[in-house]
Amino acid sequence: MKQSDWEKVIAAAIGPASEYLKSLPDRAVYYPVADPEELRKLFGGPLPDRGTAPEQVVADLARDVEPYVTAHASGRFFGFVIGGMHPASYGADLLTSTWDQNSALYPVTPGTAIVEEVAVGWLLELLDLPRDASVGLVTGGQMANFTCLAAARDYVLRDSGWDVETAGLQGAPKVNLVVKTETHSTVMRSFRYLGLGASTAVAVDCDDQARVIPAALESTLAEIEGPTIVCIEAANINTGSFDPFDAVADAAERHRKRGNSTWVHVDGAIGLWARASSNHQEATKGVERLDSWSTDAHKLLNVGYDSGIAICKHAAAHRSAMSTTASYLVQSEGETRDAMDWSPEFSRRARGVAVYATLRSLGREGVDDLVRRTHSLAQRFARKLQESGRVEIKNDVVFNQVLVRWLAPDDDHDAYNDRIMQCVQASGEAYFSGTTAGGMRMMRISVSDWATDEGDVDRAVDALLECSSTCM
Ligand SMILES: Cc1ncc(COP(=O)(O)O)c(C=O)c1O
Repeated sequence: MKQSDWEKVIAAAIGPASEYLKSLPDRAVYYPVADPEELRKLFGGPLPDRGTAPEQVVADLARDVEPYVTAHASGRFFGFVIGGMHPASYGADLLTSTWDQNSALYPVTPGTAIVEEVAVGWLLELLDLPRDASVGLVTGGQMANFTCLAAARDYVLRDSGWDVETAGLQGAPKVNLVVKTETHSTVMRSFRYLGLGASTAVAVDCDDQARVIPAALESTLAEIEGPTIVCIEAANINTGSFDPFDAVADAAERHRKRGNSTWVHVDGAIGLWARASSNHQEATKGVERLDSWSTDAHKLLNVGYDSGIAICKHAAAHRSAMSTTASYLVQSEGETRDAMDWSPEFSRRARGVAVYATLRSLGREGVDDLVRRTHSLAQRFARKLQESGRVEIKNDVVFNQVLVRWLAPDDDHDAYNDRIMQCVQASGEAYFSGTTAGGMRMMRISVSDWATDEGDVDRAVDALLECSSTCM
């Protein structure tokens, strides 16, 4: 390959990429039905002895893989909590790939390092969190939870006279883990990664909206002593509800006053963005009093995958848990930000450039509008489905999530819910995913895409109602 051949590779990628992006509004939204053996035949075979021109490989990928990708960035994809892709994020990511920066240390990659530093400052402003909080730009909510909880482990043990970073956990004081009955699996997985043991966590009861019950938390804390980590949520995966942050902060304060080092972590993968919305201020009141916050930029902010954010009030604990040095590294001397200090990776992609670009393109008003619009479209879904008389809406639609229980004429509601979801998926009109809550099968609607509009919601509702008739 010669330097001049870049043009051919770019042309092979950009043409199909542009066609794909333009097709999104009309593209069928389903998980492509694929036979894995067929795909293995298509892409596999023995490792070739002789190479193929890069532009040919790229052209083959564009032609052969595209039929099997899912239109996650479609305005009619309402499954899981999958954000769309803002155009500024896409463009910035193209440049990030082009520059191929190992953006771990400021002195090596000053351009992307300062862009990320600015993005981090804007995030703290937008989310109205302490301006001296530390921020790690990681791959997603899982790693954001892990990073924050690693900082929490460092902090509560150090406060109890134990340096976990050098001494490890053998012989360390027991760390009490307090979670909700509705805690996301990535929090429990983080405990495993951190050697804290998922099964040692005590689960506190929640109300019917999956919000932690303050009195139950209070009595759980009253019974434990020693270093304590409490995990709560900004927007539950099923209901979209927000925990009572002020009450949790008060309970944690009382626990501290009883002599227990305490850290409260908020899994805000979905809902921390409510802080950026002028009509959701009440929902997140008091969250700033807590110790760490994780969120996903690839959810509501609509940055492309993968992009998560770990924020800690106690920067020293965060840095102590994450940073490292080596004799051959060229590190900053304190005045500029080395990304390596705040995330688990060593080498890393400059993923914060896409965060910067999205924030700059949307501005404060654009993010406000995005969050408010996803909420009002979720309400539109709930209203229209309720009017049909065929569903129960199982949650208070306080954010972008709607929890729907389809009511079957033969009373076999669980099977009916699954049949309707399969039917809509097969139609390609929209995508919804399911869940089991309170022992019942339900359909979840998650409005998380900047591109979704009223027309998309109405089209999806029509598809659902048609399937609800044919699946009876
Ligand atoms: C509440 C919550 N926390 C954590 C995660 C994990 O995020 P990610 O998939 O970005 O790792 C999710 C994912 O949906 C989530 O909804």
